[in-house]
Amino acid sequence: MDQQTVPDLSIQLGPLTLQSPLILAASPWGSEAARYVGSGIGALTMNSVGPEPRRGHPPPVMHDWAGGMINAVGLDNLGAAAAVAQLKPLKADLQRHDLRLIASIFAHTAGEFETVAQSISALEPDLLEVNISCPNVEEEFGRPFATQCTPAAQATAAARAGYSGLMSVKLAPNVPDVTEIAQAVIEAGADILTVSNTMPGMVIDIEARRPVLSNKTGGVSGEALRPIAVRMVYELSQVVTVPIIGTGGVVTGRDAVEMIMAGATAVGLATVAHRHGPAGVRRVLSELDAWLSDHRVESLDQIRGAAHTG
Ligand SMILES: Cc1cc2nc3c(=O)[nH]c(=O)nc-3n(C[C@H](O)[C@H](O)[C@H](O)COP(=O)(O)O)c2cc1C
Repeated sequence: MDQQTVPDLSIQLGPLTLQSPLILAASPWGSEAARYVGSGIGALTMNSVGPEPRRGHPPPVMHDWAGGMINAVGLDNLGAAAAVAQLKPLKADLQRHDLRLIASIFAHTAGEFETVAQSISALEPDLLEVNISCPNVEEEFGRPFATQCTPAAQATAAARAGYSGLMSVKLAPNVPDVTEIAQAVIEAGADILTVSNTMPGMVIDIEARRPVLSNKTGGVSGEALRPIAVRMVYELSQVVTVPIIGTGGVVTGRDAVEMIMAGATAVGLATVAHRHGPAGVRRVLSELDAWLSDHRVESLDQIRGAAHTG
């Protein structure tokens, strides 16, 4: 009888070694974050924090529908300085379990990314993710930086000036050519790309005759986003050499395989965790492990980018 393959699930994300390719994507996890220690993730991303405390949009801010979720939390956060103090115990807890902490920041203007990056550096995160792509605050912030090359590069350069550590930039799906934006942010100092943020959308409650979210529009995540994110990762991995955290619609182990075959180094998850908590993430990892084992794949390097040659 054949010996069973025991796949190695660890990955190398730039200089960081992660024990699992699954990364909890940026979202307001709050005190729930600690529950993900031991769920099979390799790293956890906190929600995006800005220069000062900010209340998000009034409820309802999240809605689950058959094809995914839509949300407009509106960057509800404590502000970078308060987040540093609040996240220190979580960072220590993650470190004890050999897990990485990813801090996420946003800012109102491109230049302001420098001061927010400086403030969050006191936390000494393993990776700083620069969110230049939040879709739900256009009325206050204008168009997301990630939708045009020059503002995207300016925001990245400002964050780079305020932070000397490892840095990822989170891109938006609603652009005609994501490769141009990616090249601009890499030139401006991004070491890694996170691909992607949610896609602007709307769900209407036909009985109430109004949009389900108080903000009316929101960001679409989950299943509906997956083909879009997979296409972006595929296109980007043909033209960039930096690692990509493929994020969008991964809710099963097979979805994670698909994202890695498109060229992702690591895989971000938010919707599956909102729906099912740590058990949902654990299931994705065990399904991934089972698929690799069934297909006699010993390491993720053996399938990364496989769709490019098929
Ligand atoms: C409720 C909710 C809140 C989110 N908040 C943030 C955020 O603060 N910063 C950010 O960069 N992305 C945020 N995201 C986007 C996720 O990190 C992720 O990019 C997106 O949901 C796609 O992944 P998924 O399909 O696995 O959910 C949020 C997503 C959800 C569902």
